[in-house]
Amino acid sequence: MTTDFARKDRAAFGLSGKVVVVVGGGQMPGDTTGNGRATAMLAARHGAEVVAVDINFDSAQETANLIIAEGGKAYPVQADVAEKQDCQHIFDTVMARSGRVDGMVYSAAVNPPFDLGTNSMTTENFNRGINVNMLGAYHCNLFAAECMQKNEGASAGSIVNFSSIASLKNEIGLNIGIMPYALGKCGLNYITELTAVQFADAGVRANTLMLGPIDSTLGNHDSQELFGHTPDEVDEAYGEVVKLKMGRASTWETAYAALYLLADESRFMTGQQIRLDGGAALVR
Ligand SMILES: NC(=O)c1ccc[n+]([C@@H]2O[C@H](COP(=O)([O-])OP(=O)(O)OC[C@H]3O[C@@H](n4cnc5c(N)ncnc54)[C@H](O)[C@@H]3O)[C@@H](O)[C@H]2O)c1
Repeated sequence: MTTDFARKDRAAFGLSGKVVVVVGGGQMPGDTTGNGRATAMLAARHGAEVVAVDINFDSAQETANLIIAEGGKAYPVQADVAEKQDCQHIFDTVMARSGRVDGMVYSAAVNPPFDLGTNSMTTENFNRGINVNMLGAYHCNLFAAECMQKNEGASAGSIVNFSSIASLKNEIGLNIGIMPYALGKCGLNYITELTAVQFADAGVRANTLMLGPIDSTLGNHDSQELFGHTPDEVDEAYGEVVKLKMGRASTWETAYAALYLLADESRFMTGQQIRLDGGAALVR
């Protein structure tokens, strides 16, 4: 397999000619750019045609509009990833419209509502969390990989699943509020490895980007709900979690790490859990 990696004038992390599907590519309403949206915008800046998928169509459309306004190529698709047929619809639509899938980022996630006082959650809400965080990831990994294996060449496609250090460690004990999220992310870590093993000989890679505290609207909102904190207390709590003095990362740190995983430069890497957490999960 030849590359031009050694060329001095080579532009790094180019995604031209690639179609990248960002599931959860809209964002929760708010001022702070979400991880999916930042990744979608950066992939487009590096030449990819981006498909922004979200349950919230207007938000997916907004991501596409931001990309188009910068001179990039993008379009939105609406889907509820808790539904298998919606996941299939995503990839059927992209194959019909763009003809190929080269990258898939799974960024959709929810923390279902719960009662902090009684530490309780309805079974329906619990199941909803698992269905979005884990079952949807399974279907999107499978359907994306099935599209990617049709691509020619030794490096057929790259899947990047956004997980969380909540799947590794937690200091809030048996709080039901974190369960569908943390367990869903544990499942997502495992799904990544299964995808990597099953599709390696088709040239399809799958890696987990394991995020720590990132400054996003959803991250701030959910932390307030889970811990009952004020916005200032959330900042303070995360300040203690992150070991690096810079404090919480922005979603652009996520996007640049995802860009590496999507690009051919990472073509020898698969099945890995890459922590992007400011040292939060370091053992001291
Ligand atoms: N912000 C953090 O601190 C942090 C930490 C660890 C991991 N993450 C992960 O980063 C990812 C993005 O989170 P974010 O904080 O940037 O929030 P975000 O604003 O990107 O919100 C997630 C998106 O998922 C979409 N979504 C929810 N349910 C869906 C469904 N059923 N079908 C389709 N789309 C759906 C939402 O509409 C929203 O646009 C998530 O996977 C999250 O777990 C974030």
